[in-house]
Amino acid sequence: GAGVLEAAPGPLAGPPRASRAPGASVRPPRQEPGPPAQEVDCLESTLEKSLQAKFPSDLKVSILLDFTRGSRGRKNSRTMLLPLLQRFPEQVRVSLFHTPNLRGLLRLLMPERFNETIGLQHIKVYLFDNSVILSGANLSDSYFTNRQDRYVFLQDCPEVADFFTELVDAVGDVSLQLQGDDTVQVVEGMVHPYKGDRAAYCKAANKRVMDVINSARTRQQLLHAQTFHSDSLLTQEDAAAAGDRRPAPDTWIYPLIQMKPFEIQIDEIITETLLTEAERGARIYLTTGYFNLTQAYMDLVLGTRADYRILLASPEVNGFFGAKGVAGAIPAAYVHIERQFYREVCSLGQQERVQLQEYWRRGWTFHAKGLWLYLAGSSLPCLTLIGSPNFGYRSVHRDLEAQIAIVTENRALQQQLHQEQEQLYLRSGVVSSATFEQPSRKVKLWVKMVTPLIKNFF
Ligand SMILES: *[C@@H]1O[C@H](CO)[C@@H](O)[C@H](O)[C@H]1NC(C)=O
Ligand SMILES: *[C@@H]1O[C@H](CO)[C@@H](O)[C@H](O)[C@H]1NC(C)=O
Ligand SMILES: *[C@@H]1O[C@H](CO)[C@@H](O)[C@H](O)[C@H]1NC(C)=O
Repeated sequence: GAGVLEAAPGPLAGPPRASRAPGASVRPPRQEPGPPAQEVDCLESTLEKSLQAKFPSDLKVSILLDFTRGSRGRKNSRTMLLPLLQRFPEQVRVSLFHTPNLRGLLRLLMPERFNETIGLQHIKVYLFDNSVILSGANLSDSYFTNRQDRYVFLQDCPEVADFFTELVDAVGDVSLQLQGDDTVQVVEGMVHPYKGDRAAYCKAANKRVMDVINSARTRQQLLHAQTFHSDSLLTQEDAAAAGDRRPAPDTWIYPLIQMKPFEIQIDEIITETLLTEAERGARIYLTTGYFNLTQAYMDLVLGTRADYRILLASPEVNGFFGAKGVAGAIPAAYVHIERQFYREVCSLGQQERVQLQEYWRRGWTFHAKGLWLYLAGSSLPCLTLIGSPNFGYRSVHRDLEAQIAIVTENRALQQQLHQEQEQLYLRSGVVSSATFEQPSRKVKLWVKMVTPLIKNFF
């Protein structure tokens, strides 16, 4: 079955490249626009074919979107998917996540787009049978042409695919179900996300999602124990010779989930632990398109030992550059935040240890996020984080987020991760005090004043 999370219908990229390293492969940043196949058309023709081949067909398509984002405007993800739902009601499921925190008067009074700031389904994962693509990108046009993001393709990885399929099902179950007549319904027995009692809803949602996480954790612990503590531990060669067992894995993948509205804070805890434990001489490459670290992350970056290379968007590649109205001030607001952070670094005398770099590419926007960890003395990373979180307030406190930690000692994969990092950082310039003296960086007083007000956008 196929499950798609937070997909804004748009053209679909060409088939991902086959992986060479076992477990995972990293696609280099896209250079060329993808073929103009429409994703929804593609789903439709696949559903049609499956029915011709077998009736009833066992192909299932499950799509999970954010309610507010998916319903934005007159022509939106919801209206695009409705025909699919009407034609293939037995096979297609469309779930719309509605944050429990947007309710009552707030829900009535908040204007469109502003009501998206209360909380979102922000996870981006694409599932095809046993293969998974994790990304920070939502399948809208620009990601296939001139918007920089990150993608990882886990080919034939049933453990991870099962976990994310179950996660999509769980979040789908606590979401509203789109019906063929464009209305929505609660799953039977579930509390309504904004009409029902908030605490009861959050408790039920927590249980539904934690059941998935706990059962995956049990399976992973078992695999861990078999691999690392078993008496009959086989080396790769033994296993190959014996031919009956898979070789000892050299790559582990840990899904990290953050759903603060449901009191699930795994990603936050693991990210904080990583930043805390990184030793002197280790290097951390951290990137986000919307650079506004939470206070806790900032304290760790400034107060620990590892070297940091932080990649962020220059105002020209901020997705809101040149936007109309208040949104037009967003890139300047980020310059303001960046400058405050830079000043802090300087006042602590840490410019050598904590470096900021601004990504710039003509005609492109920047939306990449994640982290690479290089242990002291190593020229290749042993860990990367990749997925939806931005390391900011919204990711930690408001939205539903998921990323994976890929931990590996597979050299080929380490090299690919390293290359990915290099290609991104190659297009950046190091931030210095001169950066902020450019005329384009003059932050107007009114922007400084509205910055706290627009903080909740990301
Ligand atoms: C998808 O991403 C684009 C660009 O980042 C954004 O403008 C759009 O609102 C997103 N769409 C949805 C449905 O989330
Ligand atoms: C967000 O606001 C728009 C415009 O007022 C409205 O059409 C939409 O239903 C709202 N979304 C939610 C989830 O309340
Ligand atoms: C950045 O994050 C801090 C707290 O984490 C918040 O107080 C501030 O207003 C945020 N600013 C923006 C523009 O997101």
